[in-house]
Amino acid sequence: MPEADHEGKNYYEDIPQQGKLFFLKGSSELDWGMKNRLARIFNPIDGHTVMLAVDHGYFQGPTSGLERVDVSILPLVPEADVLMCTRGILRTVVPPTFTLPVVIRASGGPSILKELSDEQIAMDMEDCIRLGVCATAIQVFVGGEFESRSIVNMTRLVDAGLRYGIPTMAVTAVGKDMKRDAKYFRLATRICAEMGAQYVKTYYVDEGFKTVTSACPVPIVIAGGKKQPELDALKMAYKAIDQGAAGVDMGRNIFQSDSPIGMMKAIKAIVHGNETPEKAYEIYETVKNTAG
Ligand code: R5P
Repeated sequence: MPEADHEGKNYYEDIPQQGKLFFLKGSSELDWGMKNRLARIFNPIDGHTVMLAVDHGYFQGPTSGLERVDVSILPLVPEADVLMCTRGILRTVVPPTFTLPVVIRASGGPSILKELSDEQIAMDMEDCIRLGVCATAIQVFVGGEFESRSIVNMTRLVDAGLRYGIPTMAVTAVGKDMKRDAKYFRLATRICAEMGAQYVKTYYVDEGFKTVTSACPVPIVIAGGKKQPELDALKMAYKAIDQGAAGVDMGRNIFQSDSPIGMMKAIKAIVHGNETPEKAYEIYETVKNTAG
């Protein structure tokens, strides 16, 4: 039996309870569980994130650099803030003792041999909960053949996520023949946010990227895109953060580098340390020359 309570405790009647706005753009009105998951993805100190994207196999199979995720990717995972992967890789390769947040690929269907915009929701929210993920990711094909269905699929995932407190990251996928410019990305990212995505992944563009981040009411992270020379990839990350991106969700420019671990450390220095691309490149080279 607990002891009887006693009188004379301090209720701090003259101190109003503090309520703070949530640190992440557009997220203040979300529920506690959703905010908690977002706070595991985005560092509450600087609002930024370095996500390591290794989900490419869901439509490309064993992409260069991802032939053996257990061998080449697991050593990088402790350097990332977040791992983005498929549930297949998570269950088969990633030890459950890894405690960093996971963003799970929850859409799929077509392979590179078919029309890519023909995607469906490819995972139940129940399994996302079972795996303890911090967010789901789904492709949205604005302007693509199956544009409308991909947007509605995203809203279904958002609805399911809202039910259980799991954020949705919408990924703006651009068709091969479509123009990648600020006008397109303003349209695509804004549609994703308006339709309920809690954050959006898109591509960096040299002209007018700040208009993309400004017009989108939720955080934006950039994909790395095709492999570029390391310094160019670091410059891209720097410019994206400088123009309002909240982080990167980068794959090929890390795991196809001649020093993936060097690139991880260099990208982190930019995203969390506000380091210049040149200084970050020195980090990459130092790590490459010492650790390989
Ligand atoms: C592509 O569809 C996947 O969602 C990747 O996660 C995304 O493109 C980021 O990887 P990368 O930096 O290689 O473009």
